[in-house]
Amino acid sequence: MTAVRNYAEQIVRGERLADKLVPPPDGLELEDAGAPLRIAAPGRPQELRIVPVKRGIVPPVVGMRDPAQRARILHALANHELQAIELFAWALLAFPAAPVAFRRGLVAILADEQRHFALYAERMAALATAFGDHPVTGHFWNKLDHLTGPLEFVCAMGLTFENANLDFAGDYARAARECGDTATADALEQVHTDEIAHVHFGYVWLRRLAPDTEPFQAYLAHVQFPLGPKRARGARFDREARERAGLDDAFIDALEATAPTRPSGEPR
Ligand SMILES: [Fe+2]
Ligand SMILES: [Fe+2]
Repeated sequence: MTAVRNYAEQIVRGERLADKLVPPPDGLELEDAGAPLRIAAPGRPQELRIVPVKRGIVPPVVGMRDPAQRARILHALANHELQAIELFAWALLAFPAAPVAFRRGLVAILADEQRHFALYAERMAALATAFGDHPVTGHFWNKLDHLTGPLEFVCAMGLTFENANLDFAGDYARAARECGDTATADALEQVHTDEIAHVHFGYVWLRRLAPDTEPFQAYLAHVQFPLGPKRARGARFDREARERAGLDDAFIDALEATAPTRPSGEPR
């Protein structure tokens, strides 16, 4: 039986892209009595070294119409998936004493993120682009100080980044559909569907780990600025996706009433 620590370390520290894409083996041993391990930065091949955010320019959603810009959008989305793969593995190493059911969920989501990466890589290939052709930023890796424990992890990853992706993935899917790239639209819709389950995971564990606090208040208490409600949604708000993710009405209402901001702090 493979120890989850060995598997997760290979994902985070591996210096080849292929190291990140190895699916979780059957019968992974999830219990880990070892000390927490907080890895400061991922191993990467040369072409996937993290660059400052200003060098990783991503076209806006209207860029979907132009295949060259569409490829850049897919490259940026694949980079989000790569970081999600690494950070779900990172969490397995950082939180060895977390409940086994929580750790099992991390492994399942990690495997989904690997599938998402493969979907985007396939669409990029159709547009003559390979992952690593453009610089990659470290949007999620730059937030390690937010991930102090399992509760903070689900507030940052599940209830902020993945929550916002309920809007973004839907916007991109619609834009791809409108310009006739149905294969890209299908890939994005698959990601959108899976993201609903990932947000659900975040919400379930928010409730389990903070059982005595009203969920939206618990989220506010454990998410750290600049993350928070303003970053947990896009300009268009997909209420139905949040309902399907199981968020309570008060949580959804509060998010819907929040004006979204970009990572720069500008309004969306
Ligand atoms: Fe994903
Ligand atoms: Fe996800």
